[in-house]
Formats: sequence, structure tokens, C-alpha cells
Amino acid sequence: MSAPNAPALRILAPAAWAATVADELVERVRAEPRLRLCLPTGDTPSPLYARLAELERARGGSFAQATVVGLDEWADLPPGDPARCDVRLRRELLDRLVPPPRFIPIDVDGSDDEAAAREHDEVARNLDLAVLGLGMNGHVGFNEPGSRPDEPTRLVRLALSSREAATARYGAARTPSGGITVGMARILEAREVWLLVTGEHKAAVLRRAVVEPEGPDCPASYLRRHPRLTVFADEAAASLLG
Ligand code: PGA
Repeated sequence: MSAPNAPALRILAPAAWAATVADELVERVRAEPRLRLCLPTGDTPSPLYARLAELERARGGSFAQATVVGLDEWADLPPGDPARCDVRLRRELLDRLVPPPRFIPIDVDGSDDEAAAREHDEVARNLDLAVLGLGMNGHVGFNEPGSRPDEPTRLVRLALSSREAATARYGAARTPSGGITVGMARILEAREVWLLVTGEHKAAVLRRAVVEPEGPDCPASYLRRHPRLTVFADEAAASLLG
């Protein structure tokens, strides 16, 4: 699984993006009710989660037997902080699904983050679907630039831009310095990978990730090693793909 493949590109009108991805996700989980998937947090998936919650309010139950595995988490934000990935995922999606799926967050509230990361590495094996956002610096999860494709789930130091996003964009009470992320090795082992990318501000990094040669400066570029990668981009994000 090392030669880059061409990802399946789904380029969508901005107004149709969330509804299309939501329909596809519901279709997946209905076809395979016991789906094990990881889900990202951030601004990109928020409209998708709003749409999923709306769809499920109407028809319900699709995620009852699914398992959602935490993708990443700030290591040093207190429980309940609004920027925490577990808090945000519960608030935006999981608490709005009836019944909610099983959720296995990353345990950052104990005394040993390294041990928690090792434990979560086992949880993150055998994912059916890894759903990811794309950072402005090319990260996926908290696999920051410099990450290798064979790395497991682990405790990482965060890039400055990620630390700043916690407070400036996501409302964290303080600036976190580290995080735990499902590693690229586990992501590349997932049966299928979806990369979600919206907005003109992501156009250059999406081009870097899927067109230019792969490299450690852009961990998302390693996703092309996966034989079943689908990129769900809106037209603005896809505008430099040529
Ligand atoms: P965003 O974050 O969806 O808030 O742009 C993506 C990421 O940094 O992974």
C-alpha cells in the first residue's frame, strides 16, 4: 500500500456539500449497521453534523449499532472545555442521534497520556471508515507536518497553528500544547478513508495533498497510499485541482 493512487474526487456545490456527504454516510451505516468509524471535529464537519442530526430526527436509528472512535484530542484541556473534541462531537452530533452510537473517546483525563495513547491505538485498529478533516498545514487528526505514514496513535506536540486554533477558533479556555491522535498507520489501515475539505482557504493545501508529490510536510498527502480514498470537496476548495 505504498504507491500513490488517484483518490476518488467528489466535487460538490457548496450548498449541496453537507447534504450529499450526510446522505452517503447514512447510506454506509444503513448498509453496515455495525460500522466502526472515526469522525473529525472542526469547522468543516459542523454543517455535515447538523444535516445528519436533522436527517436522523426524521428517520432515526441509523447509528444505533455503530461505534464512533475518537480521532484526536487536546491533551491538556479540562473535561467539558468547549474546544475539546469529545465535547464538540457529542454536542454537534452524538447527543442528537437517538439512540446514540457507542462512542470511545480518547482518555486524556487520566495521569498517563502515553498509556492512554497506547490503549487508544488498539481501539483504532480495524476501522471500517476514517473520516478526516484537512488542516491548513496539511495535518489530518493531529498528525502534524513531520509525521510519518507508519506512526501509531500517540501523544504529539502540536503545531503552533493548531494550538492557536484551539483558543482563537474553537473557544478553548487556555492554549493546549499537546494532543493525542490516531496515527497515520491506523488511518491507512482503515478499510476506507474520506477526506472532507471545504472553502477557498483550503484550496492550496488540498492541491498540495492530492496533486503534488507526497511528503512529510503534508501528512495528508500520505492518504493517497490508500486504495479507497474519497475526497469530498466543495467547489471552492477544489478550485486549484485543475
Ligand atoms: P477545520 O479544521 O475543519 O476547523 O478547518 C480542520 C483541521 O484542522 O483538521
